[in-house]
Amino acid sequence: MNKRKDNLPLSQSKKVTTNTLQQMKLNKEKISMLTAYDYSMAKILDAAGIDVILVGDSASNVIAGHETTLPITLDQMIYHAASVIRAVQRALVVVDIPFGSYQGNSKMALSSAIRIMKETGAHAIKMEGGTEIKESVDRIISAGIPVMGHLGLTPQSIYKFGTYAVRAKEAVEAKKLITDATALQNSGCFGVVLEKIPANLAGQVAKKLKIPVIGIGAGGKVDGQVLVLHDMLGLTTEFSPRFLRRYLNLFEDIKGAVEGYIEDVKSEDFPNTKEQY
Ligand code: KIV
Repeated sequence: MNKRKDNLPLSQSKKVTTNTLQQMKLNKEKISMLTAYDYSMAKILDAAGIDVILVGDSASNVIAGHETTLPITLDQMIYHAASVIRAVQRALVVVDIPFGSYQGNSKMALSSAIRIMKETGAHAIKMEGGTEIKESVDRIISAGIPVMGHLGLTPQSIYKFGTYAVRAKEAVEAKKLITDATALQNSGCFGVVLEKIPANLAGQVAKKLKIPVIGIGAGGKVDGQVLVLHDMLGLTTEFSPRFLRRYLNLFEDIKGAVEGYIEDVKSEDFPNTKEQY
């Protein structure tokens, strides 16, 4: 891994920008990315040195409890993104443009992207889809807004596919994914997320593209990794795909803490004399 003059990896430079990510790809330094939806979590991620924070529309699932990402609105994404931005000093903050605020209408797509940038102070947006959203991607990028693509399993199209199974296993779909990824790069996207596709295909795309490719369930041959924070912290328990590594079991830890608090309140152990005025 190439280091800066002061021997720090590039990701530890002052502020992470889209240029930093590009440089990291060239230097073969892997990019770390996690989701966050609120001030407190974003502050921890930034302090830990995460490169990219994604204000994902997975907020629809893990924050609001919806089954899919479709119900979350542009206003709700703006609320989450503005909370995250207030906490972040170094990471690049990318915001998902939600379902229904860009599909099929490039002028609407631009006005949604502008609202995200103006009302949150975020640094970039992410959009699901390939050649079918090219006009919107082009229009947004030509307005000076950095765009990250998202291909493979695209949760906003879940009802079209009907399943969360691995994507692009068949040659035709794999070929389309490579075409889409190339088209996103040619439009000027600064990066692409590949979700739940075979590792070899993801590696092939990462090798072909000059822009960083970030994987989730796409193996280790890509330029970086992203996970949903609530999944990797074990706050969610019902979602256990093969690609997920859980670093904590916060559901059980928090439940234990709350049980302890309940017990202390009921038994009048809390508050004690030192915990009052
Ligand atoms: O919304 C999200 O969290 C995402 C990641 C799964 C990449 O798009």
